[in-house]
Amino acid sequence: MATAQMKISPEDLSKVPAGTERIPEPTIIVIFGASGDLTKRKLLPALFHLEQNGLLPKEFAIVGVARRPLGDEFAADMRAGILEFGGATEGDVHLESFVKKVRYFAMNFDDAKGYDGLKTELDNIAKELGIGGNRLFYLATAPEYFTAIVENLGSHGLSKPENGTVGAVIEKPFGHDLDSAKELNRQVNAVFSERQVFRIDHYLGKETVQNILVFRFANGIFEPVWNRNFIENVQITAAETLGVEGRGPFYEKAGALRDVVQNHVMELLSFVAMEPPSSFAAGSVRQEKLKVWQAIPALPIKNVVRGQYGPGTIDGNKVIGYREEERVDPNSGTETFAAVRLEIDNWRWAGVPFYLRAGKRMKKRATEISIQFKQPPQLLFNRTPTGGPCGPIQPNVITMRIQPDEGISLRFGAKVPSTQNVSVCPVTMDFDYASAFGKSSANGYERLLLDAMLGDQTLFAHRDGVETTWALYTPILEAWAAKKPETFPNYEAGSWGPDCSDELLKRDNHSWRKL
Ligand code: BG6
Repeated sequence: MATAQMKISPEDLSKVPAGTERIPEPTIIVIFGASGDLTKRKLLPALFHLEQNGLLPKEFAIVGVARRPLGDEFAADMRAGILEFGGATEGDVHLESFVKKVRYFAMNFDDAKGYDGLKTELDNIAKELGIGGNRLFYLATAPEYFTAIVENLGSHGLSKPENGTVGAVIEKPFGHDLDSAKELNRQVNAVFSERQVFRIDHYLGKETVQNILVFRFANGIFEPVWNRNFIENVQITAAETLGVEGRGPFYEKAGALRDVVQNHVMELLSFVAMEPPSSFAAGSVRQEKLKVWQAIPALPIKNVVRGQYGPGTIDGNKVIGYREEERVDPNSGTETFAAVRLEIDNWRWAGVPFYLRAGKRMKKRATEISIQFKQPPQLLFNRTPTGGPCGPIQPNVITMRIQPDEGISLRFGAKVPSTQNVSVCPVTMDFDYASAFGKSSANGYERLLLDAMLGDQTLFAHRDGVETTWALYTPILEAWAAKKPETFPNYEAGSWGPDCSDELLKRDNHSWRKL
């Protein structure tokens, strides 16, 4: 099929005809904190994939900004990163042309004079490329530099469009509690209008996450049963086998609730629970997500539990406990696991428990959502005390596998072939992304970087949303900070988390789905 290029207004992506390529206007991307891991492992490989797929404008430059005087070393290092993490191979025709677009500018983020130099550098690059004033500033630094960078961009005239559009992408963590998130929003919005701000949550860039909305709203058969009348409970798991991977000092201040639950897991929750938006435009989607979070009543402390891993075995390999990790306090009270029971107090969901859990060093890497349906009103089959050959009849479950092994399955009961009796065993219908569409190489960042360059905010967090989720968890974080857990470490690396996580569901006569 011939592809057409079009300039796209960021209004509603679902109106873009299939086969259209969305290509941004000539732009300079400026990455602050460019010497960090994120740039090398994720951002540059993602931009390279866009280049490979012909989705970057011809006139384009990436300017890495960090303190170290790296010079040309930076482009060489990014090239190595693209080979290692971006699936590129030596000799790839796009590699050399892409690396030529990578520049470096050394400065201290809090040194005002540096921004004068940066402005001149950007103006020179724009002149060299013959382009206007489109700029995308990407803040990939440690969060303590966000304020200085934003204020300096403002005071040096870099935040206001001059013959172009200017955007600011801000990495997580966006604040560490409600007050700090509000303060950061205030500082950011004093310099950039909300329309220019892209608070990134890479989960929203994942195909399988966006597919939650397609599954629900592009099909007629699921939405009628997607409510309290049919659904018994909803479970969201974000389990990692990795530990803190040398990020001890960061993680000591974060913990699982801040690092993953307040953002990634709450985003998943909003997609599962939201009402159909009136369009697939940023305003409607973000409004519906916000309404979900606003309908969650304050969390009783007993409904949020925490854990920390001790030593254990993962995939046959012995691993150390969290307290033994590099640059972690040997008496640390930081949680590496959190589980939450919450309700959404609205017409669709009243009374349905949502269980969320996220943890490091768990038995298996699996991010998935399972929708557990109610039993049919009358049980005709498997009526002996122990049930049929597979035990009592099990309720229907829709499982969305976000990663790995991406797909969706539906569990239902089927008759076991027999002329002698009627008994039922659970079977599954399975949709597997890779076999249906081939393996997608896109990581979340590819899509989100493209959207940010195009000015489409649909898959980015809004100020109000960020504050609402922080408001929910801040009292819990404060209560936890005030009382150091006495039982840590309380789960073995390579397990499914602490006992208190199972007990949270047992109270409702529920249990975590086996993954
Ligand atoms: C990041 C967290 O935001 O998400 C990490 O800081 C976590 O601690 C990561 O490992 C998980 O992302 P993914 O895409 O691997 O599930």
